[in-house]
Amino acid sequence: MTEQTPLCDIGFIGLGVMGKNIALNLADNGYKIAAFDLDHQKVDEIIAQDKIERKEQDPRIVACSSYTELLSKLTAPHLIILSVPAGAPVDDVCHKLIDAGICADDIIVDTGNSLWTDTIEREKQYHGKFIFFTTAVSGGEVGARFGPSLMPSGDPYAWARIEPIWHAISAKVCPETGKALERTSIDQPLPQGEPCATYIGPAGSGHYVKMVHNGIEYADMQLICEAYHVMRESLSMTPKQIASVFKTWNKGVLNSYLMEISAEVLEQDDPETGKPLVDIILDKAGQKGTGLWTAVSALEVGSPAATIAQSVFARSLSTLKHARIRAAKLLEGPEPQVVSEEQRLQSIEQLHDALYCSKIVAYAQGFQLIKLAARQQKWPLDFGGIAKIWRAGCIIRAAFLQKITDAYDRDDELGNLLLDSYFSGEVAKYQHNWRQAIASATLNGIPCGGFSSALAYYDSYRTETLPANLLQGQRDYFGAHTFERIDQPAGKKFHVKWSEPGRPLVKID
Ligand code: 6PG
Repeated sequence: MTEQTPLCDIGFIGLGVMGKNIALNLADNGYKIAAFDLDHQKVDEIIAQDKIERKEQDPRIVACSSYTELLSKLTAPHLIILSVPAGAPVDDVCHKLIDAGICADDIIVDTGNSLWTDTIEREKQYHGKFIFFTTAVSGGEVGARFGPSLMPSGDPYAWARIEPIWHAISAKVCPETGKALERTSIDQPLPQGEPCATYIGPAGSGHYVKMVHNGIEYADMQLICEAYHVMRESLSMTPKQIASVFKTWNKGVLNSYLMEISAEVLEQDDPETGKPLVDIILDKAGQKGTGLWTAVSALEVGSPAATIAQSVFARSLSTLKHARIRAAKLLEGPEPQVVSEEQRLQSIEQLHDALYCSKIVAYAQGFQLIKLAARQQKWPLDFGGIAKIWRAGCIIRAAFLQKITDAYDRDDELGNLLLDSYFSGEVAKYQHNWRQAIASATLNGIPCGGFSSALAYYDSYRTETLPANLLQGQRDYFGAHTFERIDQPAGKKFHVKWSEPGRPLVKID
C-alpha cells in the first residue's frame, strides 16, 4: 500500500509578492502548505524556492493544480489563506472553493487590503457555506516574509484556530522594551517575543484599522517628503546631505522605518546616469486606494483627519505633471532666500520639530478616526493593543508607537492622543519651531500642506471658540438653517428673519 503523503496544515491561494512571502514565512514556522495560484509558474517558483531554503528538510510546500486538489491535500476542517487583489478576485476564489466542496466548518482567511465594508458583507454572504475570516497584513514584501504586523478580525471560533499561527509568523517585539526583534534573513533564528498580531474585533474592524494604518502611512510619507522638499529647494541641500540629516533624525524621536528607507532612497545613485536616483524618479505619486478610502471614511464619519486627506490630495496634485510644467512658467511665486550655514542649521532643526509635531497630529487624527468609526460600528476596540502591534512589522513601525501604547496604558479612554500628558508636553516643547518652519517654507514658496494642515488641526482643536459661529450665521442668513445659542440648552434652535424689518429672532420648536 502506498504510504499516504501527510496532509498539509494550511492551504494557500495567491502567490504574488505578499502571498509567496507569507507562505514561506508559514513554512519557516513549521507549517506544511498546499499552494495554489492561477498562474502555475508562481507555484513552480515557490516550490523551487522552498527546495533551496528547506535544505535537508522534507518539502514544506506542496504544489496544487486546482482548488479540488488543494482541498484534498488539507487536514479537515480546512484552513485556507487567500492573498489575492481586493475586490472581485476574493469572491471569485470563494465561489470556486464552494464549487470544489468546501465545508461549513472550513475557514477562509482573506489577507488582502480589502475594503472593510466588503468584508462585513462577505461574512454574511458566506455564512453557512464556510467561515469567512480576515487578517489585514502590513509590512510589505520583507514584512510578509520575516514578520508582518497582523490585524485579524471576524469569527472568534476562526481566531482560536488561527491565533497560534499568526503569533508564530508575525513580527516580534521585546516585551520589556517594546523594541522590534528584527529578522531579515532565513539564516537568522525565529525571534521569540511579543507578537505583533492581536484580535481586532468583529468582521470589518481589522480591515478598517489597516485602512487607517495606511492613511497614517500616507501622512507619514508626505510629511517626510515635505521636510525633504524644503531642504532640497529652500536650503539647497543635496540628496546625500538630506539622507545624512534623516539618518541623524532616525536616532531620535523620529526613529521609524519610513525615515530609515527615505534616507536609503536619497543615498541611492541611479546606475544608468550616476545621478541621485531621486532626481531621476518621475514626481508623480501612485496610490492603490487605501489612503483614499481612509479620507472618504473620515469625511463620512465626520472625523477631521485633515492631514491624512491632505496627503491623498498631495498625491493627486503630483499627478498633474503636465499642468504643473505649464503653470510653473505662468504662476508667480517667491524665490527661496539664500541662507547662511547658521540659518540652514536652524532651519533643519525647525523642520525636525515640524515633522515630529505633525506626525503626532497625524497619528492623533488616525486614532481619533478609528475611535469614531468604532463607536458608530459598535466595535469594542483596544487602542493600546492596536498601537502595540504597530511597533514592529508594519510600514509605520517606529519607536514612537511605544509612546502611543504607553499613552493608552495610562488612559484607555483617551479622547485624543494630543491630550495625553507626554504628547501635549512634546508639542508644547517643539511647536515654536513647527510654526517657524511653516512660515519659512511658505515665505519661500515651498508647499507644506501636511505640516500646515496638522498645525491648523492642532490650533483648531485647542481653540475654545472657532469662527463656526459666523458660519452658522451665514447659513441661517441664506438658508434659514437655524443656529443654537451659547446661552441656551443644547439642541434649542433659533432663526433670524433676515429679510424682515427689524430682523426678529424666532425660536424654532
Ligand atoms: C503595508 C502597505 C501596503 C500598501 C501598498 C500600496 O502596510 O504593507 O501599506 O499595504 O497598500 O504598499 O500602497 P499605496 O496605496 O501607496 O499604493
